[in-house]
Amino acid sequence: MDTVAIQSRRIVSGMSPTGPMHLGHYFGVLKNWISLQHEYDCFFFVADWHALAKYQDPKEIENNVWDMVIDWIAAGIEPSATTLFLQSKVAEHAELNLLLSMVTPVAWLERLPAYRHQQEKVSQLSTHGLLGYPLLQTADILTYRAGQVAVGEDQVAHVEVAREIARRFNYIYGREQDFEEKAEAAIKKLGKKNAKLYTNLRAEYLEQGNNEALETARELLKSQQNLALGDSERLFGYLDGGGKIILPEPQALLTEAPNIPGTDGRKMSNSLNNYISLRDSDDVIASKVRSMPDISQDTQTSPVEELLAVFQSGDEQAATSNSKETLIELISAELQPMRERVKELAEHPEDVRRIIDHGSEEAREIAEETLEEVRAAMGINYK
Ligand code: TRP
Repeated sequence: MDTVAIQSRRIVSGMSPTGPMHLGHYFGVLKNWISLQHEYDCFFFVADWHALAKYQDPKEIENNVWDMVIDWIAAGIEPSATTLFLQSKVAEHAELNLLLSMVTPVAWLERLPAYRHQQEKVSQLSTHGLLGYPLLQTADILTYRAGQVAVGEDQVAHVEVAREIARRFNYIYGREQDFEEKAEAAIKKLGKKNAKLYTNLRAEYLEQGNNEALETARELLKSQQNLALGDSERLFGYLDGGGKIILPEPQALLTEAPNIPGTDGRKMSNSLNNYISLRDSDDVIASKVRSMPDISQDTQTSPVEELLAVFQSGDEQAATSNSKETLIELISAELQPMRERVKELAEHPEDVRRIIDHGSEEAREIAEETLEEVRAAMGINYK
């Protein structure tokens, strides 16, 4: 498969194991993963290295990791349909992180909102690891040459920097000595008619900035079944003036995720301790929902109504005086089967470990293919 074909089929995403999985994760990300898992080659992983960027108690991280995997599976992620793995079991992520660090301007990392927020508001913690957090995330994504990254809104800036780093890498290392001659030779292989079309579309894009022409040219290349791998990559790269595409640029794939308010009306999150976890018992769900304010201080909307809307479809949304009781029932009904699956899985930890071992092995094989190309492009594939 060539890079472009790989890219269009692969989706990658991860979560940092920093605490219990809650309704915000479920509606914001997990449901999206579940609906994608049968249509794409999905790589879902627990980002345990990322968890270390914000200091983690060494005694807690392991439990968080296994609980996270169990919750994912209980929520509907199918190990047989996806590649489920642990970041720290695929050392290639760290190698790519290191190699990409050589082309990543520090300023690109410093200006990212999550980093600035952490620095200014949360703590004075100023480690290389925290600054490098989005670079490691970039390595996670580019290791699989994935076209799409299924994440929530808060991660879009990180996917954007991954695109920039990929582009820069390709620009610097995708230049073969005789790139232009090879690209021109590849054009001839398209056949007379398509060669002319490609050349015209490329000129329209490069000379007039016509994005539609660029898209049309890419479609044209995608439909060329007989083109050799290297030629196809060259022609894609030649289109926008760059070199050969080694690491394709990923895109964020957002769910139409509703905003999930927490029990205090602010966005549901572990750090605000305002979450309803996927493992909460019916009693805990009930007492949390009953404690919710009628109106959120932040947004002046009703968090109960907002949560109800997530469960109900349009016309059922009429507000009733029993909103809270209805919400309790809906949440309990959604979570109850999950709790049962969690219980079963927790009773068989060896099965969960086997799933992760298998997935990590599979991930490593694919990661190795990418790293071989990257090492070769950088001139360190010594034989
Ligand atoms: N930063 C992400 C989060 O906080 C987790 C993450 C790490 C990730 N690596 C990734 C997400 C790669 C998508 C792709 O949720």
